[in-house]
Amino acid sequence: MAKLVVITGITGVQGSSVADTFLQTPGYTIRGVTRNPESAAAKAWAAKGVEIVQGELDDVKSLERAFKGASVIFGVTDFWTIWKDPRTAEQKAPGQELVAYCYEVELRHGKNLADAAASTAATLDRYIFSSMAHATKSSGGKYTKLYHMDSKAEAVTYAQGLPALQGKFSQIQAPIYFQVGTEWGLPIAPKKQPDGTYRMTAPGPGHKPIPFGNVRTDLGPCVKVLVEEAPPNTNLFAVGDYISWTDYLRIICETQGLKYGGFDELSYDQINELIPGGLGHEFGLNVLFAFEFGYEGNEPGIVGPGKYGIRMTSFREYCEKNDFSAMLGK
Ligand SMILES: NC(=O)c1ccc[n+]([C@@H]2O[C@H](COP(=O)([O-])OP(=O)(O)OC[C@H]3O[C@@H](n4cnc5c(N)ncnc54)[C@H](OP(=O)(O)O)[C@@H]3O)[C@@H](O)[C@H]2O)c1
Repeated sequence: MAKLVVITGITGVQGSSVADTFLQTPGYTIRGVTRNPESAAAKAWAAKGVEIVQGELDDVKSLERAFKGASVIFGVTDFWTIWKDPRTAEQKAPGQELVAYCYEVELRHGKNLADAAASTAATLDRYIFSSMAHATKSSGGKYTKLYHMDSKAEAVTYAQGLPALQGKFSQIQAPIYFQVGTEWGLPIAPKKQPDGTYRMTAPGPGHKPIPFGNVRTDLGPCVKVLVEEAPPNTNLFAVGDYISWTDYLRIICETQGLKYGGFDELSYDQINELIPGGLGHEFGLNVLFAFEFGYEGNEPGIVGPGKYGIRMTSFREYCEKNDFSAMLGK
């Protein structure tokens, strides 16, 4: 009998990758969870044979219904949906930082996912949660306000403490998405200079490699390995390529037929000012943390895709397959 895989965030980057992978793997049926089954993205999955159900991360009962009968659950929380939601500013405590409130909500969502997964423990083989390193702990207390990381890491601790999930839980860590400087319109995107070259600015030094990946294509195969090969309690860091910011720009230039114009390092204060409202703070500190302490943290036993022979996309391959003319104002 086919095993049921339930995927949260199926209309997003991570969930889509997981859904693509299991759609191509015999022996599974897929149920996708969305807040809005009528959205174009949800209907596109339904057209591919995915059962689409309504579920809200803030409503544990809706998740319990969605997870009923699951053999495998993929759980992902989205800090940025919370951050963008106009209700967030209204609901936070007076004087509370917006991102500090987002941390509370994202942690609640992570706990709801774990509780709902535990409710179907009788049928469950594996609950895979998309996590990040605990920045406060991994930095020895230096970075105590990396809210979008600590919220996920604390949701892991919660899931690991639930008796019903013993022997059934693993985590996957997504690296920095390749798209961060190419497709998202952030001010770090390479900019054309008066002399026709392309120059880029980003947090941290230009020559030190940090981990990136093509999460849209490569997260799914990593999740599949966590389901089919790796033992429970595996912490898999789904890194695709270690590249420095200068190589990031160099590879874009080489593959898009542009002239490389150089890199300018941004301090935390500069990125925070350039991207206000908490996004610059979280992104900037995340990158600085990666340079200083290693993006995936220092928990013992973290494994990479190489351990399971997973073929990951390099940044050059990703750039060769894409045309960034519109973003680059070519
Ligand atoms: N960008 C990076 O470099 C990076 C690196 C590592 C980790 N991350 C983490 O990745 C996460 C985002 O994952 P992603 O890229 O897959 O996101 P995404 O593409 O923006 O999609 C977000 C998904 O979450 C679902 N969702 C949001 N709020 C929900 C709610 N309240 N209830 C139910 N579903 C909800 C959305 O579904 P519907 O809209 O259909 O309901 C959608 O499928 C973030 O937490 C971020 O911190 C990002």
